[in-house]
Amino acid sequence: MFLGIDVGTSAVKALLIDDNSVTIAEADVPLSVSNPHPFWSEQNPTDWWDATCQSIDKLKSENPVALAATRAIGLSGQMHGATLLDANDAPLRPAILWNDGRAKRECDELDAALPDLGQTAGVATMPGMTAPKLIWLKKHEPDVFAKIKTVLLPKDFIRLCLTGEKVTEMSDAAGTLWLDEESRCWNPAAVAASGLSMDQLPKLVEGSSVTGKIRRELATRWNMKPGVIVAGGGGDAATGGIGVGAVRHGDGFISLGTSSQIFVASDKYRPRPEELLHSFAHAIPAQWFQMAVLLNGASCLSWAANLLGEKDISALLSRTENQHRAPSDVIFLPYLNGERTPHNDPYARGVFFGLGSDTTREMMVQSVLEGVAFALSDAQSRLHAAGTHCDLPGVIGGGARSRYWIQLIANIMGTPLARYEGATKGPAFGAARLGRLALTKEAVEDVCQKPAIDEVIEPDMAHYSTYQPRFAKFKRIYSALREEFTPT
Ligand code: XUL
Repeated sequence: MFLGIDVGTSAVKALLIDDNSVTIAEADVPLSVSNPHPFWSEQNPTDWWDATCQSIDKLKSENPVALAATRAIGLSGQMHGATLLDANDAPLRPAILWNDGRAKRECDELDAALPDLGQTAGVATMPGMTAPKLIWLKKHEPDVFAKIKTVLLPKDFIRLCLTGEKVTEMSDAAGTLWLDEESRCWNPAAVAASGLSMDQLPKLVEGSSVTGKIRRELATRWNMKPGVIVAGGGGDAATGGIGVGAVRHGDGFISLGTSSQIFVASDKYRPRPEELLHSFAHAIPAQWFQMAVLLNGASCLSWAANLLGEKDISALLSRTENQHRAPSDVIFLPYLNGERTPHNDPYARGVFFGLGSDTTREMMVQSVLEGVAFALSDAQSRLHAAGTHCDLPGVIGGGARSRYWIQLIANIMGTPLARYEGATKGPAFGAARLGRLALTKEAVEDVCQKPAIDEVIEPDMAHYSTYQPRFAKFKRIYSALREEFTPT
């Protein structure tokens, strides 16, 4: 058995797979995000650890034999979160998350200090990345900054709790702006420009390397054999890729979760910061990927359902589908948390445009689904501008449960999309595979097979044409509002 743990934003997921990559058990424990000020987004690292313990406790109570047979553990996590530890390895403050927008000014400062950083770091300086957050802290919370002994990423804090080791791996280090993506080592100039020294960063390994062994008392708690290894693992984008076998050049997928990504694996480092793409090191050696990142995704649907007082999302989606006649007259900008690709605009916000006294809740929901699809199409155009294509991306994440939504996305993007067979193949699944790779040293292709495709959803090109004027309007509405979003 191999255990994957994904420290997500809305939940920690623990999942067990067997030697045939079949999911044997899974357990989720929800997390909440705190927004103490506009554009801030934080979580307590100790909440991640509590949720991790609870999720493994759940596996133990439901599947004690399978859990006890765990041979290796892999970690996955939300990327970019600045997790700041003091001299006793205790968190100094809540972690500053991937969708936090406070450090825009600090990005400009970093750009002024290191104008070519995007070429080395694989991405334009954006407030979600880790480096500008440290510059913000130095300025706004100097007492906290002065006490920082170590900066970790979210899943690496869980590694510290599990094993006592301070280690990260390439694919998560990739999202800090401190990694030299091509040579896969820390970039001392970027670290210094953030006011840090190299000894404040963890050791750097590949995602499929062994990083330590589970602490004895935890092995006892979960009835595991002592000495179970913990692999490097990966940032959730990369582990999502490992989960669907996106391990070779051109393999890709779309993740429709709290955030969304379009991910395409690459055999070379191909930086395109000017397109606002993320060109990052993969969680397996000698591979990279290019990715368009949207800060919003299926979370827009749960947000709308919640506001509309709709408890049953699948019933809401069925009603919306039944009433869907044509593109909605309402246009929704899905930027509830700002946007990265293609805007690099932490201040952008959601907009419903064109509401009328005849607008129904189903029309609003349709516009939300279309708005996320427009944003994906917008992001896809940046990958195309970089010469990056993926023939048949599969869709993973919570949004993948709705066939209706995937069809809508295929129609708006003009791209065929695959639905995978069986249980969701998410980041925790990829993390478990990295655990296996670290232990067995098997060939990547043997372990990271692609899931069977249940259905290929072809775009309806008549709908594609009907949607193009709406898509153009969607882009014009954002352009017209961009200045208005910026706080004065
Ligand atoms: C990727 C990104 C998000 C987070 C949250 O760059 O910011 O996907 O990892 O899941």
